[in-house]
Amino acid sequence: MKVLVIGNGGREHALAWKIKQSPLVKKLYVAKGNAGIWKIAERVDISPTDIKNLVDFAKSENIDLTVVGPEQPLSEGIADAFEEAGLKIFGHKKSSAILEASKVFAKNFMKKYGIPTAFYETFDNEEDAIKFVKEMGTPIVIKADGLAAGKGVVIANSEEEAIQTIKEMFRGKFGEASKRIVIEEFLDGLEASYIAMVKGDKLIPLATSQDHKRVFDNDEGPNTGGMGAYSPTPVITPDTEKTILEKIMYPTLEGMKKEGRELSGFLYAGLMIGSKGVNVLEFNVRMGDPETQPIMRRLESDLVEHILDILEGNVDKVKPVWNKNYALGVVMASKGYPGKYEKGKEIVGIDEAERDPDIVVFHAGTDIKDGKLITNGGRVLTITATGRTLKEAKEKCYSAINKIHFEGAHYRKDIGDKGLEILQEA
Ligand code: AMP
Ligand code: GLY
Repeated sequence: MKVLVIGNGGREHALAWKIKQSPLVKKLYVAKGNAGIWKIAERVDISPTDIKNLVDFAKSENIDLTVVGPEQPLSEGIADAFEEAGLKIFGHKKSSAILEASKVFAKNFMKKYGIPTAFYETFDNEEDAIKFVKEMGTPIVIKADGLAAGKGVVIANSEEEAIQTIKEMFRGKFGEASKRIVIEEFLDGLEASYIAMVKGDKLIPLATSQDHKRVFDNDEGPNTGGMGAYSPTPVITPDTEKTILEKIMYPTLEGMKKEGRELSGFLYAGLMIGSKGVNVLEFNVRMGDPETQPIMRRLESDLVEHILDILEGNVDKVKPVWNKNYALGVVMASKGYPGKYEKGKEIVGIDEAERDPDIVVFHAGTDIKDGKLITNGGRVLTITATGRTLKEAKEKCYSAINKIHFEGAHYRKDIGDKGLEILQEA
């Protein structure tokens, strides 16, 4: 069969890498991809949000299955358009993608269905928002309503910072996305990511993982899309997983169904596990980036077969098989990321790093110019390693990183450390 992957990042490289291994797949395409994905999939020069042209392409090439990586095309209705054209696609409709696309919707939804989440209020003006901050005190969390590539969330440690953030957001820092905001209680604890493949009221859990959102070591600096992740994470114990399924995942599927917004695709719950139990920080209607990279390294069974079974309603048949090893991925980013960053720097050393069979380098912001591999985005690469222990995976990953170079590259040195502390392997 012919499969089309939509998206340009590290997540899409990992999905394409896994899909390519399926014996069911004769030909793989990517729109638009990056220099890493173009090595394994035919490049389609259509933007992930150019829905009309993607439908036309899928029809004319007789694409049998399309897998969507990022949230933007989903929230702009790519799944609706493909289904209307009679094309098979794994990804939620626009009406369901709102669970990620609007934080106001997500918070109100969680409140309505009793899904545990931080105490909050929503605001559409500065005055009321500032009044609420004064009542609540700090630290406090301020979130732009709409999509802002993981950067629309600010944890304000002082009242001044909170007020400044509120003003910036209402004065258009994120355009339409920050015309409304959510202000919520700060929750302490450890974060973890819980991702499942879902269809209606049924779900298949994927392996657990933990992301590292802040740009610098020890969770300092601003939020990013994610600087590294590993799988599985000891933060999610079997008991915690039971709670997540019973109190969060199933109620979400049932609630969305009741709202007439039935889910079909990946569902990601970003969780805070701490003194207030397990709470949802956010929902995403797609796989996480960089969580996908280590998760795909551990999936032994056929992703394409699983997706086809789910789409055909045979969810009960799907039994993913996970490698017992740990997998860990570290993001190498361009100088300046998550702020303004430089592009066009030559990347060297990937082949040498991948000589170790336990290493796979996934590309994100990369391109080819004059036959050379160059940087072309904020997050450039995710270097992944597998190991029998988390410690071994971490050590292998960082020794591979030492072989890869581009000007201004930066990365966190402490990916996996929270897991190691729990496992006491540090
Ligand atoms: P979100 O996009 O809503 O997941 O927020 C991005 C990041 O901000 C999360 O991954 C957390 O690190 C942090 N964060 C969000 N909400 C809270 C909260 N209520 N308490 C503490 N940290 C939070
Ligand atoms: N890694 C977090 C995200 O994909 O939103």
